[in-house]
Amino acid sequence: MSPKTLSGARYSRHNGPNLNLLGSRETHHYGTGTLADIERELSQAAVKLGLTVQTFQSNHEGGLIDRIHAARADGTDFIIINAGAFTHTSIALRDALAAVAIPFVEVHLSNVYRRERFRQRSTLSDLAVGSIVGLGATGYRLALEFAAIHTAPTAGDRG
Ligand code: DQA
Repeated sequence: MSPKTLSGARYSRHNGPNLNLLGSRETHHYGTGTLADIERELSQAAVKLGLTVQTFQSNHEGGLIDRIHAARADGTDFIIINAGAFTHTSIALRDALAAVAIPFVEVHLSNVYRRERFRQRSTLSDLAVGSIVGLGATGYRLALEFAAIHTAPTAGDRG
């Protein structure tokens, strides 16, 4: 797939279950920033990078899958996904990402490899362009910067 131009490149952030509770939920793992704080910071960063942003959070597996399907129809170039606990369990989510074939980065706020064994398995990682774990909200920002590079025009596309 040839890269789209950076200007107006569309990316979407998908957040899975319980991430709406960030700020009050297990702050020793996830920090005190709310999802709204993260969204605000990333939306500002996206504007500077010339990316068009959409954000989505759902506590429901089907809601996330429907949104991933919609990303194909709306021309999304890149997905950043923190699927929460569905990361460790959902073959359906994996299949949805495989079906739309939109490049994506998997993000986890906490370092899942320093936690329970069941968090050390991801149904998504081997399909992802890459994964960022354990860097808190900074991980989303780094994923965004990577998305900008990944969707930047090549010399041939610039004309
Ligand atoms: C998480 C890690 C998951 O294991 C957990 O279920 C979450 C959050 C993270 O961002 O560190 O809900 O994805």
